[in-house]
This record gives sequence, structure tokens and C-alpha cells, in this order.
Amino acid sequence: MSTAKRRSQPSKALLLVNIGQLLTLRAAVANPGPRRGSTLKDLGIINDGAVFCLGGKIVSVGTSKDALRDPWLKRNRRRVTEIDCAGKVVLPGFVDSHTHPVFISPRLVDFEKRIEGASYEEIAGAGGGIRSSLEAVRKSAKSALALKVVTTLEEMAAHGTTTVEAKSGYGLTVESELKSLEAIRDAASHWPGTLVATLLGAHVLPKEFEGRSQKYVEIVCKEMIPRAVKRKLAQFVDVFCDQGAFTAAETEQIFQAAERHGLQVRAHMGQLSETALSRFLRFNPASFDHMDHVNDDDILQLAKRDTVATLVPGANYFLGLKEYPNARRLIDAGVPVALATDYNPGTSPTVSMPMAMSLACTHMKMSPAEAIAAATINGAWALRIAERKGSIEAGKDADLAVFDAWDYREIPYWFGANHCSMTVLNGAVASSS
Ligand code: NIG
Ligand code: FE
Repeated sequence: MSTAKRRSQPSKALLLVNIGQLLTLRAAVANPGPRRGSTLKDLGIINDGAVFCLGGKIVSVGTSKDALRDPWLKRNRRRVTEIDCAGKVVLPGFVDSHTHPVFISPRLVDFEKRIEGASYEEIAGAGGGIRSSLEAVRKSAKSALALKVVTTLEEMAAHGTTTVEAKSGYGLTVESELKSLEAIRDAASHWPGTLVATLLGAHVLPKEFEGRSQKYVEIVCKEMIPRAVKRKLAQFVDVFCDQGAFTAAETEQIFQAAERHGLQVRAHMGQLSETALSRFLRFNPASFDHMDHVNDDDILQLAKRDTVATLVPGANYFLGLKEYPNARRLIDAGVPVALATDYNPGTSPTVSMPMAMSLACTHMKMSPAEAIAAATINGAWALRIAERKGSIEAGKDADLAVFDAWDYREIPYWFGANHCSMTVLNGAVASSS
């Protein structure tokens, strides 16, 4: 099925050496939890570094000098694929912890209407927005959706991403939501990176349920969630909790169903308006995403927990908003912050984590170091897979991004051009050539 422009090789012994700057993101303490406050800028940099990977895992990390002195490597050098990374920055592959890749068409009419002055809510109210993406997904074959997802994943990998959270949410019938999750599963089997699937059956109320939102929420709780669980199609349940989408009470109901069926929860929160968060904390959400609107009490609560605030500045950029989420307020209060693309046809049609990072630096005043940690290790925490993703440490999955750059700050600096020259996904090398 793959439309690969890029070639990926099966995982074997792999040595990246002479790395100009190796950003390990290694933890400074045992059982660290997500990065918060000043630990968010701790990149664990090794100059002239080396990483050795075997069987899809990282075996050792250190300086080139130490790696080349290693007796096993000396004996087996001919059996090892060696990649010279002089003049490159190597960092953990990005963990894009919030994406909506299962759709068919871009929303170009909405794009033009917004340029002419209409808001996201006005466009949605007039029949555009999420609802206008439903028909094509409902009509599409699973294979067509899977092909769209794989093509997107390959583009993401070309920009340095190795782990992707992928949501359903453009079908909004039981059958088409399950079909979307199956398309994600099929895409995962054709891509060497790692996919985490999320059921977003509660994305928006489909037109046929207008005035009957309770009936639709019941379908999400009693049919979509149990059937997705039975077929092991999702790890998370997400809800778009906001004006024009689902209420806090409905979100709670859906979280209860998810919990009953053993799925973890996350939610779109505070994108258009503020919702008090305290009633959701007992569900131990992995992440609250967007967070443009959040109050001080909730910030204090989040600072004490592992629930990650996932910021998606691509959506603010693409909607032409003047305001961005207040990352400084969150970080300085001790809330763990992640960055993601929010790849979707309505608010953020970008596959590029470096673009999201650049926006985070320029518009949210995150430092380049903070943006990198938010896009890697804290993305892994937002998906609850930090024990194997998000940093370059022995025993973790061999997920690496190689950038043509002398200094890591160039990654968010050169916005709009792709400087990622190679990615390693679970040990498989994919390069642009
Ligand atoms: O994260 N806010 C809800 N979901 C998406 C938008 C989806 C769409 O417009 O298609 C978001 O911005
Ligand atoms: Fe989203």
C-alpha cells in the first residue's frame, strides 16, 4: 500500500557517530515524571556524540570517542551500518501527541471564508467545519482512508516525527468511527514508526442528532467505546469539550464510559471558551489539549499532576488568531507542557513539528530548548509512553531525528523549510534521498 517516496530499511545494527550536537533529553533523576518548570529546558547535550542501536532499541549513548573504543563495536564494525553525523543535530524523534489524520479533503472554502473575515464558529454554524468533512469519510473505503493516513505519516516522518497519536472523528457514526480506527491500525502496520490510536467519536454533534445530543452521547458510550475496546482499536478516548461541541456533563459521561471499559482519556479543552477542569481530574486524563482559556485555580491543580497541557499553536496560526495559549504562565506555574501539530483539515493542516515549535517560540515565548523537550519527552508523557519514547537513553526505542544544523536552535529558527535529513523509526532508517 505504501506510496513511499522515502525508503526505509529494516532495523539492524546502526551506529550514528560524530554527531555535532546529540540532544539526549535523558532524565537527570530516577522516575522523573513529565518535565515541568526549569527542567523543561534540560536537553542533556553531548557534543561529538554517538548512538548505537540494535534490534530497534537504543543500546548505548555517549561520545564518539567512547563508542569507537567499544570492543564489541570494534570487532563487529563491518556488520554495523555506520552513519557519519558531522555537522548534524540528532535528537529523539518527535512525538506528535495530537493529530486528526483520517479525513479525505482539505477545507479550502472554509479557508477562503476565514480570510474574508468569518470565524471558525461562524463557518461551522453555516455548515462548514468538522461536519463538512463527514460525508467523504463515511463514503470512503477503509483502504482509501488508510492510504491517506500512511501518506501523512510519511510526510510527518520526513519532518522528524517518529510517534504519532491519531484520532478518528470525521465519521461520527458507529461504523465510520470504527472504520477510521481500523484505517489507523492498517496504516500503523505499513509504517515503521509508532501510532497511538484515539477514539474521538465526540468530536461534534452530527446534524442528524441536532437537538438530541444525549442520544448521540449514549451511542458513543454504549456502542462506539465498547466496540472499539472489543476490537482493541483505541488506547484513548478524546472529547471536544467546548461551545458548539460537547458540554462538561457530556464529557464526564463519556469519560465514565471510557474508564468502565479500561480506556484512558484526554480532551480538547479551552480552545474557544473556558471550562472548569476540576470535575475531570478524578479520571486522571493523560492530557488537556489547546488550553487557550484556563483559570488560575486549574493551573495550580495541574501543576501537582501528570496531566499534560498539550499546546497546538498551529491552530491559532491557521485561524489567524492574535492570541496564543499562555505557555509561560503554564510552564512557570509548573504545569507539564507538550507541543503537537493538531494536524487536521480545519484548523491546522501542517505535518511539521518544527513549525509548531517555531510558533511556540515566536508567539508563546517558549525557548528553543523548552520547545524541543515539549515536542519529545513531554509528548511521550502526554501519551503515557515515556518509558520507551521521547529521549535517547539505553533501552528505549530507537527513534531518532537527524537535522542538517550546527545548533539545535536552528530547528525552530528556519521556519517553513525542512532541515530534517533522516529519521530512525524503531531502528528503521528513512532518509529523503
Ligand atoms: O483540534 N477542535 C476540535 N478539533 C480540531 C479541529 C477539527 C476540524 O476543524 O476539522 C482542533 O482544532
Ligand atoms: Fe484537535
